[in-house]
Amino acid sequence: MKFNPSMRQITIREALLQAGRDIGDIEARMLLQHVLNVSQAYLIVHCEQALTADQARSFRLLTGRRTHGEPVAYLTGRREFYSLDFTVTPAVLIPRPETELMVDLALAQIPPGLSCKILDLGTGSGAIALCIAKHRPVAEVTAVDFSADAVAIARTNAKQLNVGNVRILEADWFNGLAGEKFNLIVSNPPYVAAGDSHLTQGDLRFEPRMALTAGGEGLDCLRSIIASAPAHLVAGGVLLLEHGYDQAEICRQLLSEAGFGDVFSHPDLAGIMRVSGGSLIVS
Ligand SMILES: C[S@@+](CC[C@H](N)C(=O)[O-])C[C@H]1O[C@@H](n2cnc3c(N)ncnc32)[C@H](O)[C@@H]1O
Repeated sequence: MKFNPSMRQITIREALLQAGRDIGDIEARMLLQHVLNVSQAYLIVHCEQALTADQARSFRLLTGRRTHGEPVAYLTGRREFYSLDFTVTPAVLIPRPETELMVDLALAQIPPGLSCKILDLGTGSGAIALCIAKHRPVAEVTAVDFSADAVAIARTNAKQLNVGNVRILEADWFNGLAGEKFNLIVSNPPYVAAGDSHLTQGDLRFEPRMALTAGGEGLDCLRSIIASAPAHLVAGGVLLLEHGYDQAEICRQLLSEAGFGDVFSHPDLAGIMRVSGGSLIVS
């Protein structure tokens, strides 16, 4: 984005127009809202307001970083997920729209008002755990992540979203949960194969590798969680797993082998099998 060298102050409308040519109108608007700390409506109503030199400089910097690929969510530090506003930093995965399916499927398992125990493995920003906890205030939700930085962000989000029925632990999957059993376990674990070409494209270039990749063609974390989950579920308890576009069949097979029944896969809005799960067979 080039600003007038005469240093004439530019207006909100001019700034949006110029940046929109480089990064698109929507992202330009999101970045300017962030710089000015105002609503979308404010930008429309005050479109002839001049930016201060500092505001213009900050906006130019962010627009430049976006042009070089940095995700908007990391530039603004915010991402909406399931209609809640989350803090995100480069320490956590940016919650994806397709992961909202996991929240829908989890909530369908928990009648409102039912007291039960829910575990979210690999919570990252806390997106899944906090949405479930917010919508099911009687449930006791536990959220786990291996990354201390992610745990700190998830705790920040719990506080900002005023969610009290959650505990957030730093642990390697089920380690630290010895002897504990849950009614529902959900996880969106790393499931991208280490050599996957998508890792060098788009937002993925800026996201933490430990949030994205797993060994064994991307299946190691899914295998490990499925193998250990039965010991941490009550009889009839449910496990729900998000996975890659081509991993539904192997997940269903692993679930059946581990003692789960009613095994299913569910498509996301793009029609891709995205979440698989089952309930622990009562023996
Ligand atoms: C794909 S991200 C999911 C983040 C969040 N649940 C979401 O859906 O946006 C996977 C998360 O698993 C965490 N993770 C990776 N290995 C782990 C392990 N061994 N134990 C616990 N968490 C782990 C990563 O730090 C990362 O936050």
